[in-house]
Amino acid sequence: MNALLFGPPGVGKGTQGKRLAAALGLRHLAMGDMLREAVRRGTPTGKLAKRYMDAGELVPDEVVAGVIREAIAASEEGFLLDGFPRNRTQAEMLDAMLAEMGRRLDCVVFMDAPEDVLVDRLSGRLVCAACGASFHRQYSPPAKPGVCDVCGGKLIVREDDREEVVRARLRVYREQTAPLLAYYERHPGFVRVNAQGTPDEVFNTLQEALTRCAEV
Ligand code: AP5
Repeated sequence: MNALLFGPPGVGKGTQGKRLAAALGLRHLAMGDMLREAVRRGTPTGKLAKRYMDAGELVPDEVVAGVIREAIAASEEGFLLDGFPRNRTQAEMLDAMLAEMGRRLDCVVFMDAPEDVLVDRLSGRLVCAACGASFHRQYSPPAKPGVCDVCGGKLIVREDDREEVVRARLRVYREQTAPLLAYYERHPGFVRVNAQGTPDEVFNTLQEALTRCAEV
């Protein structure tokens, strides 16, 4: 199965994407994670992407399309896209890329939550500086404050979770990504999921939706 998760910043795409991909045997292709890894390694893509990411703006379409093309080509087992596409041009690039590879998107899941919930989630997020695992001060706290449960690394606040950058990310979402809803609502595998509730509740709803969609 090939699926796409999309929705606003902080809605839980990363948290759920990792769990869903593991449960369904798919490759989790998280564009934000791939870009942060490129920044960490100081590659040419990372150097270019950093200034856009720090400002909460979208990295140029051709750059992210190149990254995703390689990742999809390496995902024979099926993929769960998270964070790509984010505008109409990227959605059309994805369609063209998949057609060229003889593949298709089976399910498109839109995760939705009100803006106050998103801000609450982003303002409490902590990430591991070493392995990128994500926590929340209140909703998914680490066992030991400031220390990653997965690898023992140091927990930090993501550069782009500062208040002014969060505002920019939400604006970019409203202007460029939200209009994709109209593009994907016509897809036969489209599902809209309420992403409020505990992480376990949201996971169960998403897993059911994807399993149902894969059976059609
Ligand atoms: P990216 O990393 O993709 O950021 P994003 O889309 O803004 O999403 P987030 O990672 O902030 O949130 P999420 O939905 O994954 O939520 P999470 O699960 O972490 O992209 C970063 C940047 O890269 C972009 O701004 C852009 O510059 C660039 N970029 C990426 N893709 C691009 C593209 N296609 N084109 C161009 N540029 C691109 O959860 C958030 C918090 O909430 C966590 O603390 C979590 O523990 C908590 N939480 C999650 N679920 C729940 C729940 N149910 N209840 C309570 N707390 C919860």
